[in-house]
Amino acid sequence: MDAGAYANDIEQVLLSREEIQGRVAELGARITADYEGLDLLLIGVLKGAFVLMADLSRHIGLPLEFDFMAVSSYGAATQTSGVVRILKDLDHEIAGKHVLLVEDIVDSGLTLSYLLKNLRTRRPASLEVCALMQKNDVQQVPLDIKYRAFDIPPVFVVGYGLDFGERFRNLPFVGTLRPEVYRDAVT
Ligand code: PRP
Repeated sequence: MDAGAYANDIEQVLLSREEIQGRVAELGARITADYEGLDLLLIGVLKGAFVLMADLSRHIGLPLEFDFMAVSSYGAATQTSGVVRILKDLDHEIAGKHVLLVEDIVDSGLTLSYLLKNLRTRRPASLEVCALMQKNDVQQVPLDIKYRAFDIPPVFVVGYGLDFGERFRNLPFVGTLRPEVYRDAVT
């Protein structure tokens, strides 16, 4: 484990740095082949997707444009509320563009479902999703995620962009937290 300052907080590593980097490189190569000859716009869903966005984009051998949206669905809790708020919208129009939405994790699927519906109304030339992780057995809406790196069990995870109380996003792996971390946070 390479948890650095967070070493006492991590219970188990679910996805190692090496596993993540390997899959991200594979997805980058697939995306490069699929969009050859096209202009591609990556839309990152802040904040969690910023790490995947940075790594993935450097494995895509195409001219790329970048934009970001910020949404909030969890607040400070570890369970989804189903309420999606747009905190920051895109800077540019996407009509006629090939768009790849980049997410860190799909849990209930409510955030992604809302975002896809919202972006479709803006008439992109195409719209696909790249997600690092999808949780098993919890999805509440059917979603077609074309580029998915990992399926994970339905547990709360941090690292590689994902936070608990805004911490842990800079871990190079994805892991679970020791119970004391939650306990200490609520007392
Ligand atoms: C997380 C994640 C997704 C969403 C997935 O974001 O980045 O956007 O929750 O959950 P869902 O499939 O149940 O809707 P969060 O609200 O924690 O914001 P953050 O990325 O800024 O940490």
